[in-house]
Amino acid sequence: MQTIISYIASNKDRFLNELFDLLRIPSVSADPKYKDEVKRAAEKVKSQLEDAGAVNGRLFTTQGHPVVYAEKIIDPAKPTVLVYGHYDVQPADPVSLWKTPPFEPTVVGEKIFARGSCDDKGQVFMHVKALEYMVRTNTLPCNIKFMIEGEEEVGSAHLGDFIRENKETLKADVVLLSDTSIIANDIPSLTVGLRGLSYMEVEVTGPDRDLHSGVYGGAVGNPVNILCEMIASLKDKNGRITIPGFYKDVLKAGKEERKMLNKAPFSISNYKKDLGIADVTGEKGYTTIERTAIRPSLDVNGIWGGYQGEGAKTVLPSKAYAKISMRLVPNQKSDKITLLFTRHFKKIAPKYVKVKVTPLHGGEAAVTPTDSAAYRAAEKAMEVSFGKKPIPVRGGGSIPIVALFEKELGLKSVMMGFGLDSDNIHSPNECYGLFNLFKGIETIPLFYKFFSEGQ
Ligand code: BES
Ligand code: MN
Ligand code: MN
Repeated sequence: MQTIISYIASNKDRFLNELFDLLRIPSVSADPKYKDEVKRAAEKVKSQLEDAGAVNGRLFTTQGHPVVYAEKIIDPAKPTVLVYGHYDVQPADPVSLWKTPPFEPTVVGEKIFARGSCDDKGQVFMHVKALEYMVRTNTLPCNIKFMIEGEEEVGSAHLGDFIRENKETLKADVVLLSDTSIIANDIPSLTVGLRGLSYMEVEVTGPDRDLHSGVYGGAVGNPVNILCEMIASLKDKNGRITIPGFYKDVLKAGKEERKMLNKAPFSISNYKKDLGIADVTGEKGYTTIERTAIRPSLDVNGIWGGYQGEGAKTVLPSKAYAKISMRLVPNQKSDKITLLFTRHFKKIAPKYVKVKVTPLHGGEAAVTPTDSAAYRAAEKAMEVSFGKKPIPVRGGGSIPIVALFEKELGLKSVMMGFGLDSDNIHSPNECYGLFNLFKGIETIPLFYKFFSEGQ
């Protein structure tokens, strides 16, 4: 029988061409301008799944972008794995900073450069090709269902309803997803936790129109200045978030857990060098790993207001805006944090401005078990393909559906991603290593093998 390694070697070029077809479609879920392209990407994923041997492929329409579904049921008595991924991508802006066009995939060195190459089309594609191999060599040992969504990058707002309404279709024993990263190509890891998210836009209004900054400046509250002061006050000098009650539900990590976390290989000097920063900063008393893994955070994602054009215009603006997000940890509830933020932000506003807070999206944190048959199968699969046992790590990012799978379907997830933190996801020049792409395709069939044996 042909091994997965020889199958990859003899199909490399075709795999890349097919992945590139998918990467060429600008499926930017955030921008309504790309709605048709998002649909086109969904159709492409569906046909690629069908070409690989999946059946009953369909697009489920939702209030937002469609969900792609397809399956390969070999025996209803056997266990079923639900593979989740997303075919939507982040906007490519600022396009001028890309060295190659974001939607014209290009191999430079050993990496594929394109928006979505790592997050998450490239990683979804590994599952499609792993299926193809198992179907063609008749080695698929269990049932697989695929659910590939198109709204992950905008918060998966309609996915809760979707999974509630399609419980029977999605019935499975475990969820498998590749939408996270490994520590390094020679240090495999499995993600066992994600942070939650609470994201809003704020609007601060001062005078009812833009004013001459000479005629009025010094006497009328400037909403841009005030917004900056309000934002600055959201953290104290120890890097702690000052919103009353914010930390109330945070579970404090124990000594052992912190020790384990900090054992993961990590070089602070490489970290700083890679980012071009002279030092790191954050909540006092925690390491950099802890700050992104087990502690919540608050960041301004964008801020604007006043004159943005060429040259100088002397103006005291009427309005100022910011997009603010908070990453949350297990046991914090996104809705509650949104409420606490809103209340606090209105309270700290001086009376000479009006404040509006609009929640944009949210999602809950997740922790996944390391003592399940599925986790052990993923661990063994990576151990075989990388020659090293993967390290369990907590990811700082968010995938809202993971908590929803648990809440709505009682399903645990295994997060076996193959990206690298240096893949520039959400940034210009997103890339995905050829090594990572092929290593993923190689590892996934091993997961199914060990999972089926361990059942
Ligand atoms: N794949 C990422 C999440 C991720 C990246 C987790 C790296 C762990 C390591 C996902 O596509 C993502 O970007 N999620 C968003 C969620 C949000 C839009 C609700 C995020 O984390 O910002
Ligand atoms: Mn992703
Ligand atoms: Mn993403």
